[in-house]
Amino acid sequence: MTSLPETMTAIEISTPGGPEVLKPTTRPVPQPGPGEVLIRVATAGVNKPDALQRQGNYPPPPGASDIPGLEVSGVVVATGRDVTRLTVGERVCALVTGGGYADYVAAPQEQCLPVPDGFDLVRAAALPETYFTVWTNVFDRGALKAGERLLVHGGSSGIGTTAIQLARALAATVYATAGTDDKCRACEDLGATLAVNYRQADFKDAIVAATAGDPGVDVILDMVGGPYLARNLELLRRDGRLVYIAFLQGPKTDIDLRPIMMKRLTITGSTLRARPVAEKAAIADALLETVWPLLGAGTIGPVIDTILPLAQAADAHARLESSDHIGKIVLKVADL
Ligand SMILES: NC(=O)c1ccc[n+]([C@@H]2O[C@H](COP(=O)([O-])OP(=O)(O)OC[C@H]3O[C@@H](n4cnc5c(N)ncnc54)[C@H](OP(=O)(O)O)[C@@H]3O)[C@@H](O)[C@H]2O)c1
Repeated sequence: MTSLPETMTAIEISTPGGPEVLKPTTRPVPQPGPGEVLIRVATAGVNKPDALQRQGNYPPPPGASDIPGLEVSGVVVATGRDVTRLTVGERVCALVTGGGYADYVAAPQEQCLPVPDGFDLVRAAALPETYFTVWTNVFDRGALKAGERLLVHGGSSGIGTTAIQLARALAATVYATAGTDDKCRACEDLGATLAVNYRQADFKDAIVAATAGDPGVDVILDMVGGPYLARNLELLRRDGRLVYIAFLQGPKTDIDLRPIMMKRLTITGSTLRARPVAEKAAIADALLETVWPLLGAGTIGPVIDTILPLAQAADAHARLESSDHIGKIVLKVADL
């Protein structure tokens, strides 16, 4: 192993609170465990779950770093015992259970993917969290198929911009909701047939009108929750699937169960972070086979809203929580 420093710069959550609680600190460089690689981080992605963790509402799972950051790109600088898939010097992007806002992070080898053809390390860092999440929710749990219709709530989010492009690329018709006309235009530029500004129109009425004759959608990816449930159920066609990844407007509501029975609907959802490595490895394999060629060919790609230095993690969170962004915010850690 080439000589590595003993300590590194990281961004810690000094106390639960607003973006200003994100503070640079010095921590030991992590040691890669069995089956793990140590990555010198080039860029770290910023995601909504990082903000929830910072607020004290999303604690890291047991054994995970308390440093925020769920995805990185960089270069493998050391390998732990039993690492067979990667060698020192390889450029990767990786899904991690925490610790991404740092100079170095350890990741299970199964959660590392190659940097897609033609990608630099900045764009590569914007991939893992949203692509793992969209794949497992829209395509595994939601079982979206070519020719079906998908509705993506929060279409301009990091998750939403990924879901729109990927579903279009795999031959689904996509509808979206977003909170401004500009965001709706961005969703349509990415391939949505129609994006509805939910502050100005009822999304259910608008999509029923747009699909008149055979109204509704087959799969809904929802991060809004309670107030949308009844309209989501009304909008789903027979055998439709509603997939939850968050509850931005709350997890509770009254529900009329009849549409579930009459239309044979499925309500499901998942979280990613606490899932075992083997399950994440299965998602990684599917991504490598189906999605990485599309990224390498330029058919789809991350929408990068803002690139900031690691030391400005607080500004990155402030922008994320302003909801002014379209797509992803990333933190530049090192030029590699
Ligand atoms: N379950 C999982 O495995 C998993 C994994 C990753 C992320 N997530 C969740 O997925 C969501 C998106 O993550 P991200 O990192 O892509 O976040 P993001 O870029 O910050 O996007 C959040 C989006 O939600 C919309 N929004 C915010 N408040 C809203 C409200 N009250 N009602 C309706 N829409 C609202 C915003 O758009 P407008 O301004 O247009 O409203 C924004 O585009 C987050 O809630 C995150 O926690 C879940």
